[in-house]
Amino acid sequence: MSDEKSFSGCEYRPLEDDELVHVDCLKHVYPDGTSSLHNVCFSLYKREIVAICGANGAGKSTLIEHLNGLLKPSIGRLVVLQQEITAKTGVITAVGLVFQDADSQLFAPTVLDDVMFGPLNKGLDVEEARSVALSALESIGAVHLVQRIPYYLSKGEKRLAAIAGVLAMGPEVLVADEPTSDLDPVHARQIESLLLDLKNKNGISVVITTHDMDLAARLADRIYVIAAGHIIATGSPSDIFYNKTVLKEAGLEQPAAVRIYESLSKSYALAHTKPTKERDLMEILTEALGRAQS
Ligand SMILES: Nc1ncnc2c1ncn2[C@@H]1O[C@H](COP(=O)(O)OP(=O)(O)O)[C@@H](O)[C@H]1O
Ligand SMILES: [Mg+2]
Repeated sequence: MSDEKSFSGCEYRPLEDDELVHVDCLKHVYPDGTSSLHNVCFSLYKREIVAICGANGAGKSTLIEHLNGLLKPSIGRLVVLQQEITAKTGVITAVGLVFQDADSQLFAPTVLDDVMFGPLNKGLDVEEARSVALSALESIGAVHLVQRIPYYLSKGEKRLAAIAGVLAMGPEVLVADEPTSDLDPVHARQIESLLLDLKNKNGISVVITTHDMDLAARLADRIYVIAAGHIIATGSPSDIFYNKTVLKEAGLEQPAAVRIYESLSKSYALAHTKPTKERDLMEILTEALGRAQS
């Protein structure tokens, strides 16, 4: 397809060398006629965490289900790991998708069987598949789950098993749909630090979807804001989280650190660094309080 192709004013962009996923002018219409994405352009680069932020029904899941070729564009261009995705392309297993509902991902009698399923399907023999599956479970501290029956796991354990299943395929990209939405704080933090480690230690790029702006602030290097199937803004966390107009249009809130900083900086002289994470706000406040006391 040509780079000059355009649909209702949306132009195809040139592909960049370090892009793992490149989406241009994507439109998706479900079989029942529901049009859920319009002119969506999206890029994922090496070694980054991108958060796709939007309210319920905004189109987050529909967008990410394109990133491994599970869904195909009705219109537009999708290039994943240098491969152009067409209606005939199968699922790209180097892009691992962790669904919001882990029950739709886990189906084998035990966690080990489940995690081995992908490697076996890829052609590994049973011993190799077992070894890859055990390593994947071990890497995320979930090896104790091997003989458990997926159906009876807690939500946090199910999420870990689903992530292990994806990691056992040796992905270059991990995509997680609302990865902590239904987890208690301890399990949510465990998944969060796992996603950060995947980027920092394993060099895997990660895409998450969320409407939790505090989570996005803690994890993401870049943000896309989606509303009613349109990407309405993209930028760094501080670009996005200090833009109340965009957040309001998307039905999202500022992260707590941003709200507190904006409110306090009306009355107090604070460093102008636009914090988005609680940790960065704490540093600013500690420094300001230190100055006030001296
Ligand atoms: N299988 C489907 N068939 C028809 N419409 C769908 C289907 N899945 C999602 N939609 C619709 O597409 C829109 C975007 O949904 P979705 O991508 O699930 O949003 P989000 O993940 O942001 O909550 C919504 O209007 C939703 O009702
Ligand atoms: Mg969704």
